[in-house]
Amino acid sequence: RQALDSPLYPLLDAAAEFYRQALKGHPARQAAVNYLKGRGLSGVIARDFGLGFAPPGWDNLMKHLGGDSLQQKAMIDAGLLIDNPESGKRYDRFRDRVMFPIRDSRGRVIAFGGRVLGDDKPKYLNSPETPVFHKGQELYGLYEARKNNRDLDEVMVVEGYMDVIALAQQGLRNAVATLGTATSEEHIKRLFRLVPNILFCFDGDQAGRNAAWRALEACLPSLQDGRRVRFLFLPEGEDPDSLVRQEGAEAFRARIHQQAQPLAEYFFRHLMEEADPGILEGKAHLATLAAPLLDKLPGANLRALMRQRLGEITGLSGESLGALASSPTNDV
Ligand code: UTP
Ligand code: MN
Ligand code: MN
Ligand code: MN
Ligand code: MN
Repeated sequence: RQALDSPLYPLLDAAAEFYRQALKGHPARQAAVNYLKGRGLSGVIARDFGLGFAPPGWDNLMKHLGGDSLQQKAMIDAGLLIDNPESGKRYDRFRDRVMFPIRDSRGRVIAFGGRVLGDDKPKYLNSPETPVFHKGQELYGLYEARKNNRDLDEVMVVEGYMDVIALAQQGLRNAVATLGTATSEEHIKRLFRLVPNILFCFDGDQAGRNAAWRALEACLPSLQDGRRVRFLFLPEGEDPDSLVRQEGAEAFRARIHQQAQPLAEYFFRHLMEEADPGILEGKAHLATLAAPLLDKLPGANLRALMRQRLGEITGLSGESLGALASSPTNDV
């Protein structure tokens, strides 16, 4: 799937090393160190995730790695340098940012995310698509989660780099993040090859709730019987980072235990918000929305049970639901 032996790997690794060293020793490092400390992160966790610092300035990394023009070309391919053909100028993509190396499942650095130290925009800058980095497939923190959990049984999917790291800092070491993209069927397939259980925990805002429903849709084709998907919805305005820092790991675990909703429960609760099951028109609409989604389920037992539940909600019999499933419908 990826260039097995790309020359970009050693380059990206050298860049990660440069950023790490800068966090330890660059004269301007203090602002980055203070930033990470201010977000509750220890040196140990920073080391575990290989966090670094891209110093201010236009050409720190280019000077360090880009000796000749061939090397600079490779750095452009790796997303490390930006090349402006009009002005002929080349410069470091990441400047004055805290750096998060993104690793593939084998632990090789394939890309970076970089966060500003203050409130500048964009808040996060990510590597572009490169020969070794395909955003829609990778999950930040998956390598680290596997390394730290010999028998990983459930992965928690969150939105952001800082969510993954803050959870790890508090001892919840099974979180991964999609990289600023929606959860894809590809992400889900990949996770279900590794673990039987997935827990989604997105930000407590409208974007996070929308992301949860899209994640549910991405899960349906992979939800064989024996696999479990749950959703934890956070209080308005919170994300996993802010919440776990506030309430600690034990309370966060208790929250998961008490409040995480199985996919089937969230499925019907959401649809009953979309369509009013108190009136016949609503029931009809609900069945129209639900049937094509249930058709995607590969697990015959869960599919049958959810159809049965749909029958209970709508009063439609299995037969009429079956007829409905094969007729053309609108998307949710
Ligand atoms: P958030 O804005 O929720 O990130 O975006 P966050 O991790 O909570 O940010 P802070 O550090 O606590 O303030 C979630 C994710 O979306 C992507 C990043 O992957 C981020 O972690 N994102 C966000 C970007 O790629 N670019 C942006 O400008 C913002
Ligand atoms: Mn957000
Ligand atoms: Mn967030
Ligand atoms: Mn946050
Ligand atoms: Mn909806």
